Amino acid sequence: MKKTYKGMTIYVMDDYEQMSEKAASFIVAQVMIKPESVLGLATGSTPEGMYKSLVQRYKAHDVDFSETTTFNLDEYYPIEAANEQSYYSYMYRNFFDHVNVPKDRIHIPDGQAEDVEAFCASYDAAINEEIIDLQILGIGNNGHIGFNEPDIRFETGTHRVTLDEETIEANARFFQSVDEVPKEALSMGIRNIMHSKKIVLIANGKGKAQAVHEMIFGDVTPQLPASILQLHNDVTVILDQEAASEIINKL
Ligand code: GLP
Repeated sequence: MKKTYKGMTIYVMDDYEQMSEKAASFIVAQVMIKPESVLGLATGSTPEGMYKSLVQRYKAHDVDFSETTTFNLDEYYPIEAANEQSYYSYMYRNFFDHVNVPKDRIHIPDGQAEDVEAFCASYDAAINEEIIDLQILGIGNNGHIGFNEPDIRFETGTHRVTLDEETIEANARFFQSVDEVPKEALSMGIRNIMHSKKIVLIANGKGKAQAVHEMIFGDVTPQLPASILQLHNDVTVILDQEAASEIINKL
């Protein structure tokens, strides 16, 4: 099903696989139209299927990333790149090790930056210079995008974040224990995300249904950071049935 609401294009797909395929198709189309595209990439469990599809399509010669540039949304802080739970490791394991994005055009926030402010300023400057053509987003249970937690100032650029308890608990499933989850992160800000030319947000599962509902039907408020997307002029939301369960009868 495809609907338009408040200017957002919303796809409700049958299941996680279809959601992942659809999201991958947006990236393939973007790179086909503009081989030198700048892609904004996300981590988390949601986009794993999308990366799997992209790797398959790359291996089938359906897409060529040799001219692309990438910027990742966020990274824990502090964390060593080699830690298997770092977003750096995630991106290489799921995507970069299997495709031909040039290594010198991959940008991931540095979880070991010594001068955090200087690092954030340089990451911000690089994003502003390149301009992201297509930004992929997931959404947190509390409506965060990237690691922009509730009450974020919308005009914030790349910055250091203290993670919400809810986010730490949600991400504890990837670590041995909740105590191992880093308490901070570096994240692109809402300003960086809104500066992207096109945004594709993906969500699956019941746990995201409420946040998806508020993102689309709620007020635009820093308490639900993803609600800012109502003000962007090119947003596509791709959901599975469960993530769409609170909105499906309202579209
Ligand atoms: C994480 C990431 C986000 C991600 C979200 C949802 O903490 N910082 O970029 O979109 O939370 O994660 P998941 O896809 O695992 O549910």
